[in-house]
Amino acid sequence: MTQADLKKFHIKSFGCQMNVYDGERMSELLVDQGMSAAKNSEEADLVVLNTCHIREKAVDKVYSDIGRLRRKDGTSPMIAVAGCVAQAEGKEISRRAPSVDIVVGPQAYHRLPELMEVAKSGKKALDTDMPAISKFDVLPSRGKQARPTAFLTVQEGCDKFCTYCVVPYTRGAEISRPWTDLIDEAKALVDGGAREITLLGQNVNAWSGEDDKGQNQGLDGLIRALDKISDLKRIRYMTSHPNDMTEGLIAAHGEVAKLMPFIHLPVQSGSDRILKAMNRSHSSQSYLDILDRMRELRPDIALSGDFIVGFPGESDQDFEETLQIVRDANYSQAFSFKYSPRPGTPAAAMNEQIEPEVMDERLQRLQALLNEQQYAFNQQTVGRRTNILLERQGKLDGQLIGKTPWLQSVHIISPDLKIGDLVEVEITQAGPNSLTGQIKERLAA
Ligand code: 5AD
Ligand code: SF4
Repeated sequence: MTQADLKKFHIKSFGCQMNVYDGERMSELLVDQGMSAAKNSEEADLVVLNTCHIREKAVDKVYSDIGRLRRKDGTSPMIAVAGCVAQAEGKEISRRAPSVDIVVGPQAYHRLPELMEVAKSGKKALDTDMPAISKFDVLPSRGKQARPTAFLTVQEGCDKFCTYCVVPYTRGAEISRPWTDLIDEAKALVDGGAREITLLGQNVNAWSGEDDKGQNQGLDGLIRALDKISDLKRIRYMTSHPNDMTEGLIAAHGEVAKLMPFIHLPVQSGSDRILKAMNRSHSSQSYLDILDRMRELRPDIALSGDFIVGFPGESDQDFEETLQIVRDANYSQAFSFKYSPRPGTPAAAMNEQIEPEVMDERLQRLQALLNEQQYAFNQQTVGRRTNILLERQGKLDGQLIGKTPWLQSVHIISPDLKIGDLVEVEITQAGPNSLTGQIKERLAA
């Protein structure tokens, strides 16, 4: 399509929180260019689909979404495919979906305005470079956002090469953003109203860098520095790899009050044989040992994880070991997936791919156990007093939703409070997925 004047944009992010962060940065970039956010894709002149390549289903969703962007009158908006599908499939996207005008990878989206110029002239625009100059150096600075919870990408990429995973190919090698950039971005976010920051990275706990005094620091050092920003009340991080769980970071959980008692630490499988085939380079026991040390220092820490069932060669016995590690570790929430062969990954070429019906049955059993643990965890909090940071409106009149330190959603009714307030509540009811609370006290936020 050609369009002389692009006024409104709509960004739809799929997949992980890093995509949500990238979506926010793209949105700030487009606002900086004089555009404004449309309410939905129908009203937009430019639609950006910020895509995920992690499983086949996620990719199929992108193509069906592209199809749906065609309007009743036969026209369609300018369409940009960003994110990991763009990186992995590149030109192939324009072949499969000719209505796509722009294909831009996760390391190149700062060039979106130039690519839009190319697309305006009727040409297809493609940029899947991983340039030496970081997008972070050229994107407009943060701080205009007024949301109480913010994401901050501190690290990107992955060098771990788990045999099922596309991330090392789509997001590239592990890179840590520099210390001062991160401290500045965090301060700008807090000045703009953020009270909770979640540090993001594919391997967030592999972050390392030099501080302003030239000392080497790990993620725990960065967390301790952010702890000093007085208007920042809560710090979280995700996703962590068990092998990068340093003693310093474990210790921070016992010492830094603003560091929330929650850890997302994927194990993927409980079978050492499968973990080896996955190239996870940790064992089920070393994983449990990390949890023991964390719980010694922070007994109430809530555990989240990721699981894959039906990895090639997974036997009934291997799967039983996954159920066993779930019982041993005890999760407050978790994500579990059927193995999905990804093009170009070693596991996709392995023998003994598992039948879909076997995967379905295993996933159901695993999720039943995880749901049981999540419900039990939620029920334990009934009667307890804790604080929540109100982050969004609920469906009912005067209803607001906030998160506990353990990342559970709590619904409250209070016409006097507003988004951004930090309040003390008593948990009165627990459901499988959320809690209900009663306000006790408003805290300084
Ligand atoms: N198939 C199924 N699940 C996958 N994940 C990553 N790659 C695959 C795949 N090929 C899951 C892992 C990871 C999460 C983000 O997605 O559990 O931790
Ligand atoms: Fe993928 Fe493994 Fe890297 Fe996580 S650690 S992004 S699962 S390769």
